Amino acid sequence: MSNQIWARKPVSMFEEDQKNSKLNKVLGKWGLTAMGIGAVIGAGIFVLTGLAAREYAGPALAVSFIIAGIGCAFAALCYAEFASLLPVEGSAYAYSYATMGEFFAWIIGWDLILEYAMASASVAVGWSGYLGKFLALFNIHLPLWLMHDHATVTRILNEATSKGVIGDLSNQYSSIDVPSFMGFNIAFNLPAFFIIMIVTAILVKGIKEAANTNLIMVAVKVAVILFVIIVGSFFIDTNNWVPFIPERYIDASGHGHYGWMGVLSGAAYVFFAYIGFDAVSTQAGEAKNPQKSVPFGIIVSLIVCTILYILVALVLTGMISYKEIDLEAPLSAVFASYNLGFAVFIISIAAIAGLTSVLLVMLLGQSRVFYAMSRDGLLPKSTFGELHNKFKTPYKATILTGVVVAFISALTPIEDIAKLVNIGTLLAFILVCIAVWIMRVKEPDRPRPFKTPYLPVVATLGILSNLAMMLSLELVNWLRLVAWLAIGCIIYFAYSKRHSLLGKRLKENKL
Ligand code: ALA
Repeated sequence: MSNQIWARKPVSMFEEDQKNSKLNKVLGKWGLTAMGIGAVIGAGIFVLTGLAAREYAGPALAVSFIIAGIGCAFAALCYAEFASLLPVEGSAYAYSYATMGEFFAWIIGWDLILEYAMASASVAVGWSGYLGKFLALFNIHLPLWLMHDHATVTRILNEATSKGVIGDLSNQYSSIDVPSFMGFNIAFNLPAFFIIMIVTAILVKGIKEAANTNLIMVAVKVAVILFVIIVGSFFIDTNNWVPFIPERYIDASGHGHYGWMGVLSGAAYVFFAYIGFDAVSTQAGEAKNPQKSVPFGIIVSLIVCTILYILVALVLTGMISYKEIDLEAPLSAVFASYNLGFAVFIISIAAIAGLTSVLLVMLLGQSRVFYAMSRDGLLPKSTFGELHNKFKTPYKATILTGVVVAFISALTPIEDIAKLVNIGTLLAFILVCIAVWIMRVKEPDRPRPFKTPYLPVVATLGILSNLAMMLSLELVNWLRLVAWLAIGCIIYFAYSKRHSLLGKRLKENKL
């Protein structure tokens, strides 16, 4: 073990990076806020609310959203202070490099892959599901084997066979014949693959195009969410809110539902809906006045989304009994149950646009984190750090990320990955709360255009609330997280430590 792994990257080195940066600085504070909203509103509200209400929280779904929102608010304040102090692309990775040393920075950078790249993979699968529903409105269907991954296709076929409803599948797919190789079903989620490739192409073209595309999608999804809230409120039957928190019971498989514990489990589950506000901080290198605009973007996008989520949760649970909420497309299904066909059409379009903008910002965030890590020498610069001559985007990192994520989304069943995303992101939030506190103690006089009020209290509450959510996830997710971090450690010692720029400067005594 050398001192290198604990060495902190001096803030002066970050400043040097920023001076040499060739990224286009085009994003203003509202553009950044739109990026935040773009990353946040997605599969969480359009898909996961159904299960959260039906299985965990009942009509108290809104309370689950409030609890998860509070946990995120503490983390958001810490992110905001750090972004104002160190407005650089690497986000949590860079913050921990400045405070906890190179090894922690590597670990958090590696962990952020779980958040940005893996979340994109799960959202692409959600996108594919909504596209299927949308096309079905026009009687257009794809073959089963081109709509899902291998495991999902096998499960769908087995379930339909055992229930004797295999014929019904023909209404949903143009064909249910699945090609196979030596008895192995071949399947490929083509829409998920396709959307990741399209988003990757937009991101290679440029940050300005990405921001403009994002703005349109955000406008569509926010308008439709407001439509759901306003129109839906006329259909609320307050009887559906009684009892607000249904009595707790444990089912045959040992899973708990409802009661206050259920509301808390619901919070850990809908946490996914909030992931993404922190992606704003990865765009600091492309922001016009990052010290002010990035904290603004983080906080305002989180406030807007929290309010919208709470209202949607109240409307949804007020329009229909929580026991009857649809699991796959809860918002459009509840309007369908009132025979509001046009609403189903509008909501499907909003979900498709909404999930596209999540992909746009998440994949953008991932390539920027890789870019920051390669600039420090922890990843190969020739692949992750090279900017396109004309577009000034890290095009190789963007394409590589896009291709890998596209294959993961086309070939993997997504439920497990989504939980891994939650646990990985919660860990990142906790480390940021710790890092911002360390920085306050170590460098109290450094200018901070945004200063978190009562930082020790906010950071402590941030750590505790996010840890509580982590603890409510099953053991298997912890094991997967540990395995992922162990792979990261191997890469660090095999490659990154030897190529680290900071390591070189330490050896040459140039710090
Ligand atoms: N918060 C994002 C979503 O709900 C990841 O899709």
